[in-house]
Amino acid sequence: MSDDSWSVAADLVSSFLKKPARMSHLQERIPSRWEPGRRRACQSLLFGTVRHLRLLEKALDEFLRKRPKPGLWSCLLVASRELMEQPERSAKIVHNAVSQIGGRYSKAEKGLANAVLRKVAKRLPELLAMEVSSPEDLAWRYSHPQWLVSRWLEQMGLEATRAFLRWNQSEAGVFARWQGEPDVLPELTPLEERPGFFSLESGAWEKISSYIEAGRLYVQNPAASIAPRLLVESVRVGRFLDLCAAPGGKSLLMEKLAGAGVDEIVSVDLAGPRYQKMVGNFERYEAKRIKPLAADVFELSAESRGLFDGVLLDAPCSNSGVLQHKIDARWRQTPESLRSIVSLQGKLLAAASKLVKPGGSLVYSTCSIDDEENAGVVDAFLQSEAGTCFMLERSERSLPWRDRMDGAGVFLLRKRLA
Ligand SMILES: C[S@@+](CC[C@H](N)C(=O)[O-])C[C@H]1O[C@@H](n2cnc3c(N)ncnc32)[C@H](O)[C@@H]1O
Repeated sequence: MSDDSWSVAADLVSSFLKKPARMSHLQERIPSRWEPGRRRACQSLLFGTVRHLRLLEKALDEFLRKRPKPGLWSCLLVASRELMEQPERSAKIVHNAVSQIGGRYSKAEKGLANAVLRKVAKRLPELLAMEVSSPEDLAWRYSHPQWLVSRWLEQMGLEATRAFLRWNQSEAGVFARWQGEPDVLPELTPLEERPGFFSLESGAWEKISSYIEAGRLYVQNPAASIAPRLLVESVRVGRFLDLCAAPGGKSLLMEKLAGAGVDEIVSVDLAGPRYQKMVGNFERYEAKRIKPLAADVFELSAESRGLFDGVLLDAPCSNSGVLQHKIDARWRQTPESLRSIVSLQGKLLAAASKLVKPGGSLVYSTCSIDDEENAGVVDAFLQSEAGTCFMLERSERSLPWRDRMDGAGVFLLRKRLA
């Protein structure tokens, strides 16, 4: 690894520790003038360190009386991540890290780093081999907040929780589908079990980016197709409404799947950069039936917009089904924020239900595997006054460790005719 990609990774880890920013924001700070291989190496070190943070911290803490200042701490974490990934290169990794640290800090700190990293190199394989089962141990071993681990243990039991944690810690794949005319590209392997979707060979991004820019290929996880498919299969004609639509992936898929009987798809999100990105996507992919609308779901009314034959509500959620690639999201949730998300989801579903025609469909979806955000919200809605004229027709769930794609909960509700 080149010296500057190592030290930029250490600086970005340090920024993350100060404030768990979105990884996409940190990634933007990797110099764009670097050649792709160097950028990838820096990014992989940054992501690997953040993904395994608690495990790396535990390994280091065992050999330190107290944690050193933040800059040095980040260097130790980055070096430990390298040791975890390539134990066979431990002598070289320690040598490189110690010389980087020597260039930045005092002689004593260099000595400390040397001693600690040598011990960590031996300890990490032992920690990785441990078969753990308590919430405390699972939390450090798989680097997740303990309250989330406890919650999942309660909802799904030990085996599923462990499989889920392992999944979240594995490298995320990149998936795509053709929105425009398909082509045959060697970098894209068709997913047999998810027709229409392809997995992208790692490192092939540069080769496919021109297809994305040309509005032909759209990067999307196969789990994102469940909700659009359920809606399109349940309603063949009329008008669709996609609430909470930005950046527009599900609207685009509805546009592709919907037959000629569907006249328009109104795609709503709050005004702002995400909305602008969605509008740009619709233009780039030449989605002629989609009409973007900057609006708050709570301010839409049947009087001003009419009623819709099919409504999709892809609600904001805790992101628990996408933690494999949104590796920072686990650290941004708290029990309180989860409670307020569930409450918002319930209110959004009630508001969405007012825009459905009698006999029409309402699809509620999240990219969470959490019961409360999925069945919990839908059950509470069906028991509420707004929900009395709806019935649950179908539901699908994607569990990442079972289905090898993002997690999702999708519920198809039908509004009674009278
Ligand atoms: C899960 S994301 C949507 C992803 C999108 N459906 C896709 O597939 O590309 C949730 C979206 O809900 C939007 N949102 C949250 N509250 C809203 C509200 N009150 N009105 C409209 N949009 C809202 C957020 O801006 C965010 O873009």
